[in-house]
Amino acid sequence: MNSPGIFITGTGTDIGKTVVTAGLARLFKKAGAKVLPVKPVQSGGVLQPNGKLDSPDGDVYGSAGAEWNIETQCPYIFEPACSPHLAAKLAGVELDVSFIAGKVRSLERRGTLLVEGAGGILVPLNGESTMLDLMKELSYPVVLVAGNKLGTINDSLLSLMALKQAGVSVCGVIMTSCEGPVPSEFGMAEDNIRSIEKFAGVKVLSSIPYIPDWNIDDPCCWEKVDRALSCIDVSTF
Ligand SMILES: Nc1ncnc2c1ncn2[C@@H]1O[C@H](COP(=O)(O)OP(=O)(O)OP(=O)(O)O)[C@@H](O)[C@H]1O
Ligand SMILES: [Mg+2]
Repeated sequence: MNSPGIFITGTGTDIGKTVVTAGLARLFKKAGAKVLPVKPVQSGGVLQPNGKLDSPDGDVYGSAGAEWNIETQCPYIFEPACSPHLAAKLAGVELDVSFIAGKVRSLERRGTLLVEGAGGILVPLNGESTMLDLMKELSYPVVLVAGNKLGTINDSLLSLMALKQAGVSVCGVIMTSCEGPVPSEFGMAEDNIRSIEKFAGVKVLSSIPYIPDWNIDDPCCWEKVDRALSCIDVSTF
């Protein structure tokens, strides 16, 4: 592992970034590396009886066995489940890319950082900057999470085009199936992978299957994620 961190982005929201981030944390840990998931900007925070907001993504990392301290690993958390720029505006907060990147970098001495974006690549953080600007500022290699479903070739290639145009280094794509089993018709699932690799020149590192009755507290679910990611050699990052 040469970079102090990896940035996990996705073709959109609810595509499986958190499960992939938590799964990678488990993979790195198993390989003997010290890793830390980071969620720099979380919207959709859950209000606790003590009046504080809890991070749903942080709960997933914690259930996966990763080290999680919301105070340091989630510098910005907002209650409305909307784009960070809007959630921040509603809270009267100005998000600043350099400041967020500084907060993330301050954690580098604690281990390899697995930084999860919010939504997709061009999600705004304020009136001028997007999540892509944060990726450029951090300059960690990027993993793109994409759903293995109808429409993913277009979504993935557009996302990879935006990353390439911005000069961001991409380590590969991890495919997921959050909504249901991978379509078996027409050999679509395999063709999605082949087409993304061929047109983008980027490797699909792994595919996580649809896990029925997904439950973050069920070790069997995490074992399925582990099996899917076990083909990834962590030294390639
Ligand atoms: N392999 C899987 N099988 C079944 N359900 C899954 C799988 N992966 C994720 N899910 C479910 O899909 C939903 C979205 O997953 P996840 O939270 O990882 O997406 P995300 O891209 O991180 O979303 P956000 O943009 O809100 O951060 C979650 O409710 C999760 O429980
Ligand atoms: Mg998430």
